[in-house]
Formats: sequence, C-alpha cells, structure tokens
Amino acid sequence: MNKKTIEKAAALRRLWSAFWQARPLLTAVNFGLFEHTKTGASARQVAGRIKADPRATGILMDALAGLGLLKKSGEKSKYRNSTESIYRNTEEAGLFLVKDSPYYQGAIVRHADNLWRSWSQLDESLRTGKPAPRESGEFSLDAFIMGMHNLAALRAGDIIKAIGMKGVGSALDLGGGPGTYSMEMARAGVGKVTLFDRADVIKIAARNIKNQKKQKQENGVGNNGNIGFMKGDFNSDDFGGGYDLIFMSNILHSNSYEQCEDLLGRARAALNPGGRAAINEFYLEDNRIAPLSGALFSINMLVNTEAGCTYTHGELKGFLKKAGFRDIKAKVLFGDAIVVTGRVSG
Ligand SMILES: C[S@@+](CC[C@H](N)C(=O)[O-])C[C@H]1O[C@@H](n2cnc3c(N)ncnc32)[C@H](O)[C@@H]1O
Repeated sequence: MNKKTIEKAAALRRLWSAFWQARPLLTAVNFGLFEHTKTGASARQVAGRIKADPRATGILMDALAGLGLLKKSGEKSKYRNSTESIYRNTEEAGLFLVKDSPYYQGAIVRHADNLWRSWSQLDESLRTGKPAPRESGEFSLDAFIMGMHNLAALRAGDIIKAIGMKGVGSALDLGGGPGTYSMEMARAGVGKVTLFDRADVIKIAARNIKNQKKQKQENGVGNNGNIGFMKGDFNSDDFGGGYDLIFMSNILHSNSYEQCEDLLGRARAALNPGGRAAINEFYLEDNRIAPLSGALFSINMLVNTEAGCTYTHGELKGFLKKAGFRDIKAKVLFGDAIVVTGRVSG
C-alpha cells in the first residue's frame, strides 16, 4: 500500500473515531471525576468516591491521562494494572473541569451529553427532516442553560465591547438564557437590562445572576437590581418596547427563516428612534461550508429544532435589511462567531 493512501486512511480513522475522545470526557464529567483528582488519587480511591467499578475507573483514567486531562505517576507494574499509580488534574482539567474555577466548562460538557443523544439519531433526522424525538427526562435544561453560561463567560466581555454600550440606557436581552450577557451589559453601564426567556429558564437565570453576584461581590448587578425578567415565547408574545438596544445572542439559529424575519420586524418596532439591534451568532460564510464549526452547528440545529440552521453572514445582514434597519455592520470574532448590528432611523 502506498504511504499516501495509508496516511489518508489514518486521517479517516481519526475522523470516525473522534467520539472515542469525547465519550471518556463526557462520562468523567458526569461522575464529577475531576473533583477527586485535584490533589492526586489512585483509581481505586476515585472509584470509591464516585461509586464506580475500580477496574473500569482505572481504564477510564488511563484514557483521560492519554488525552492530557490527567497526569499519571508512580506506575510500578509492567504486567497488570497496579493500584499504586496516582492521577492528578493537568492544568487544563484544573482550569475547565473543576467547579470552583471561574473558567468552569463542566455544564457545557454535560450539555454535550444532551446533544450526544440527539446527534445519535441523525440517520432518522436525515430520513424525515425532523428533529430527534426526545424521551421525557433525558434532556437536562440546567446543563443546557448553564452550559451557555460556561461558553458566554469566556466571551461576553469582548462581544459586548464590540457592540458598544455608549448611549444605551435600556437594553433587551432576547432569549437571554443564563443572563451572562445581561450581566455584562449592566457591568458596561446599561441602566436597565431586561432578560426575556421562557419561564423555566428565567428561574435558572435568576439563580445564576444571584450566584455570580455572590461570587464577584459586584455592585449594581443583581437579581432585582438593574436586571429585570420577562417570561414568554419571543415568537408569539410581546416583549415590550422603548429599548435602545435589542441583543439577540444565539437565538436566531433555532428559528425558521420566516420566524427570524418576523422577530426582526417586531424588534425594530420595539426600539427607540436611533436604537440598535445586535445579533451574535455562529459564523458561517455564504458558501455554508466554512468555517467547519458553523457547518457542523447546522447539524446540531437539524437534530434539535423543527426548522433551525446556521444562518450565513449574508442572511443575517439580510434579516436586518428586510426589517428596515440601516447602517448594517458585521464583525467576525474568535473565528467562529459573528456580531451583526443595525440601526433604526433616529
Ligand atoms: C442558545 S441559548 C442562548 C442564550 C444566551 N442568549 C447566550 O447567548 O448565552 C438560546 C436561548 O433562547 C431561549 N429561547 C429559544 N427559543 C425561545 C422562544 N421561542 N422564546 C423565548 N426564549 C427562547 C432559550 O430558552 C435559551 O435560553
């Protein structure tokens, strides 16, 4: 076999086996494993703490060490697994996979387990064009919403800065989820922020905002401070008016084209003269294939929503244009996100 063919086959093998790398991480986070390896522990000790089988835990922890999430030391036996080896979190695990880190990403990893189930039904979605059916109880809303917080906590500051809060007295965070962007807007000096979302999500947002406030001891950002809540369905319910800014972060992709057009039309009507709409979305070039993250995110919407997809750069601008916004500007951030803004006439 020629070398090039062997290399290409190896690349294909890396592709089809990519889930072999994801699954150990998802399972480890489900069991809270990294909380028990902060200062070093053997597989047997960890198994006892997470209530798991010692042999299985050893195999999992070796794979996690191979993946660079644990450091293993003290292995003496060359024959059978010894019980003396000690595993400790690597810097990455300490930064992202233990709950007391400000950069904790565990909720989004738990949400990946929500997605694992829907993505596993892609064959069926391909046949029917419909999202994966969801058994009751198998989707964790808390993991989804707090996962959004994990992701947004790394980016909200830059995104809100890119939009610019100068002159914004009143803002609506439509589909605001955990409230991470609402908090960032309040922090940037917006006098009144309204977070609109479904009733069960508002409960999570209120808890998150309270916890964040406690952690950061910040002034002016609070449950009942300058962040207010409004419950409803943004596609059918009124979301108030008199806003200087309506921020729509990662909400359009779960809507159909028609729903996006309608939403942008109603957003325009809810803005003060001279007010702005700002969209934050997954970035996808007009060819719909690049960057890869944007193309793959469309699969996520195929298996999880009735008619959502990743909208392209041109389509996002088009939604604003069609709704009558002017001065439309787009900025790509972090290589995989796009912020598009438009203004209503003053
Ligand atoms: C992907 S999350 C984004 C959360 C947040 N904006 C962010 O960027 O971190 C989408 C949010 O929109 C909310 N949402 C989706 N469809 C909605 C609807 N029709 N009415 C109200 N909220 C909705 C979800 O509950 C969720 O909180």
